Amino acid sequence: MRVAAAELFISAAAASQFPREPLPQIAVCGRSNVGKSSLLNVLLQRKHLARTSSTPGKTRLLNFYRITPNPPALRPFFFVDLPGYGYAKVSQSERESWRRLIEKYFESAAPLVGAIAIIDSRHGPLDSDVELLAWLATRALPVILVATKADKLTNKARAEMKRQIASALAHLPWQEVIFCSAHSGAGSQELWQAVTGLLRS
Ligand code: GTP
Ligand code: MG
Repeated sequence: MRVAAAELFISAAAASQFPREPLPQIAVCGRSNVGKSSLLNVLLQRKHLARTSSTPGKTRLLNFYRITPNPPALRPFFFVDLPGYGYAKVSQSERESWRRLIEKYFESAAPLVGAIAIIDSRHGPLDSDVELLAWLATRALPVILVATKADKLTNKARAEMKRQIASALAHLPWQEVIFCSAHSGAGSQELWQAVTGLLRS
């Protein structure tokens, strides 16, 4: 899959700013600093489209990226880079306002076709990840599970992590995981295949 065009369409701070254009949307969610924005950049082959940072909690808005695939067999769609959850150093009230904004997004009439849920392949699913995944499962939304920063793992550790993830998520509808690295680009093709599947369904 190649990308003909990718642009930041809007950074939304409130539900009233969510795009009205009736294009499919894919939400990108995960803990703060897990590597959501970096993964989007590598998928879109744009180095600095999504702002990344080594300081957690930088993405405080819902960033809607409008993507035009090439060849144009698929319609344009939006990737929605959601603010990361689980960052301890922000105030309770700030965390609450993020949570409300994210919930408003999932409850809005947005034509969501699925979510990419990202976890850190070194840590596996933490409690806050399992909580989000369980919540997504109740919404019957197709989820692509990604373990990123896979460049930090040896092959042996990765195989072990695969087992650990399957066991931690045994109560959920999906245990298959795609290992990715924003540094090496590993996993991008497999992830695009899964994304294309969502867009075609
Ligand atoms: P917030 O928007 O703050 O929630 O963070 P984010 O999930 O968008 O993470 P971001 O992409 O900004 O990356 C956070 C840090 O992790 C940065 O220092 C990245 O360089 C690093 N990082 C992201 N992806 C990878 C990866 O695949 N491998 C390695 N080794 N580091 C990564
Ligand atoms: Mg980000």
